[in-house]
Amino acid sequence: MNRSCKLACYYFFLINMFLLHFTVRSQLTTNFYNSSCPNLSKIVRKEVVKALMNEFRMGASLLRLHFHDCFVNGCDGSILLDGGADTEKFAFPNVNSVRGFDVIDTIKTSVESACSGVVSCADIVAIAARDSILLSGGPSWNVPLGRRDGTVSNGSLANVVLPSPFDPLSTIVSKFTNVGLNLTDVVSLSGAHTIGRARCALFSNRLFNFSGTGSPDSTLETTMLSDLQNLCPQTGDGNTTAVLDRNSSDAFDNHYYKNLLNGKGLLSSDQILFSSDEANSTAKPLVQSYNDDSTLFFGDFVKSMIKMGNINPKIGSDGEIRKSCRVINS
Ligand code: HEM
Ligand SMILES: *[C@@H]1O[C@H](CO)[C@@H](O)[C@H](O)[C@H]1NC(C)=O
Ligand SMILES: *[C@@H]1O[C@H](CO)[C@@H](O)[C@H](O)[C@H]1NC(C)=O
Ligand SMILES: *[C@@H]1O[C@H](CO)[C@@H](O)[C@H](O)[C@H]1NC(C)=O
Ligand SMILES: *[C@@H]1O[C@H](CO)[C@@H](O)[C@H](O)[C@H]1NC(C)=O
Ligand SMILES: *[C@@H]1O[C@H](CO)[C@@H](O)[C@H](O)[C@H]1NC(C)=O
Ligand SMILES: *[C@@H]1O[C@H](CO)[C@@H](O)[C@H](O)[C@H]1NC(C)=O
Ligand SMILES: *[C@@H]1O[C@H](CO)[C@@H](O)[C@H](O)[C@H]1NC(C)=O
Ligand SMILES: *[C@@H]1O[C@H](CO)[C@@H](O)[C@H](O)[C@H]1NC(C)=O
Repeated sequence: MNRSCKLACYYFFLINMFLLHFTVRSQLTTNFYNSSCPNLSKIVRKEVVKALMNEFRMGASLLRLHFHDCFVNGCDGSILLDGGADTEKFAFPNVNSVRGFDVIDTIKTSVESACSGVVSCADIVAIAARDSILLSGGPSWNVPLGRRDGTVSNGSLANVVLPSPFDPLSTIVSKFTNVGLNLTDVVSLSGAHTIGRARCALFSNRLFNFSGTGSPDSTLETTMLSDLQNLCPQTGDGNTTAVLDRNSSDAFDNHYYKNLLNGKGLLSSDQILFSSDEANSTAKPLVQSYNDDSTLFFGDFVKSMIKMGNINPKIGSDGEIRKSCRVINS
């Protein structure tokens, strides 16, 4: 071997290590289970269809489950783990709020009977979220797969990393950038609030005495304001729910953005994407674009879902394939 070949081979080796490093960072593939569980997508689809026929809102709940899984220690099914008071299930953003655990159990049982010990709970949640969007009239895509399940559920972490509806826009944006998502992802993924419901307790601060002003949130449209004041009296228990998209609460469409243009966002964290001063030069133009162009919204939403689904996945020999989604393997 002459000297120049040695040098070339050395650089070739370096470049390969470099590429390997980056492919390892994001090694999920859409055909991950093609040979180990060829019917996986059919099985999950069938169970999600059943769950939505039983209760259509479950689609929204499954979508939110994936989001809350991914933001806390990556998309590793950690939110599904049962346990004590410091687990994710009991964290403030999740307790009495996140739904769909029984549906995931049912899907897992069905998947296990076709291909035992092969498919992670984290991947099941990701596919169920995609199916929920599709069955609600939204876009579809091939879900990158190969996530393994985590063994740690951290409730205190969930409390600090998940966005709150009371956060200012700058805080929401930093919680997204902390997991590798940017402002475009904030605005496109917030469009998930085109389906599903929220409890009065999460927006009633806007209805009577907003931020100590003595008046309701002035960015909330007046008819919607009085409807919500009736639905959520100050003496209520905060558990009554309102639809997030009053126009079409079961349809995955871009009407969420029209709502924001009209002061009809339900949560403060929705309306600030359009009405806050800090949104003026940042989020606001995107809200306008997604309102104007539903194809643009669907395309960006899918890109952002894939990015979110790629948050810190456990791959290779990291984590495990849980037998039951609620407990780590012994
Ligand atoms: C931008 C920051 C976000 C905040 C502050 C936020 C906050 C909330 C809150 C407070 C609720 C109602 C919970 C309850 O009533 O207990 C909710 C519901 C929901 N969120 Fe978000 N969310 C955000 C982003 C997202 C993202 C990124 C997704 C998914 C991609 C999502 C999907 C949903 C869905 C589908 C529901 C309805 C769930 C159901 O009906 O069961 N949200 N969100
Ligand atoms: C994996 O399966 C999907 C769905 O059946 C198919 O579209 C895809 O081409 C398959 N990929 C490989 C590499 O076999
Ligand atoms: C996949 O499902 C079809 C029926 O839809 C069945 O005939 C086939 O045996 C299944 N394949 C595997 C590997 O389970
Ligand atoms: C849980 O998260 C908190 C807050 O980030 C951290 O201090 C703690 O070490 C974590 N606990 C475990 C068991 O990972
Ligand atoms: C966010 O990231 C995407 C790529 O993932 C990029 O296309 C987009 O321009 C970025 N948006 C902002 C506001 O930086
Ligand atoms: C609104 O809240 C502020 C601060 O909590 C309080 O000082 C004020 O009395 C309240 N106003 C009304 C009308 O309840
Ligand atoms: C809301 O409902 C949950 C049970 O689903 C209950 O534990 C909680 O106390 C209720 N909240 C209020 C304010 O009554
Ligand atoms: C939804 O909005 C469209 C147009 O923006 C309107 O024609 C329709 O009546 C609305 N539907 C409801 C239920 O508000
Ligand atoms: C943001 O835009 C609104 C009008 O949409 C305007 O009232 C407000 O002054 C603007 N704020 C800044 C900081 O530019």
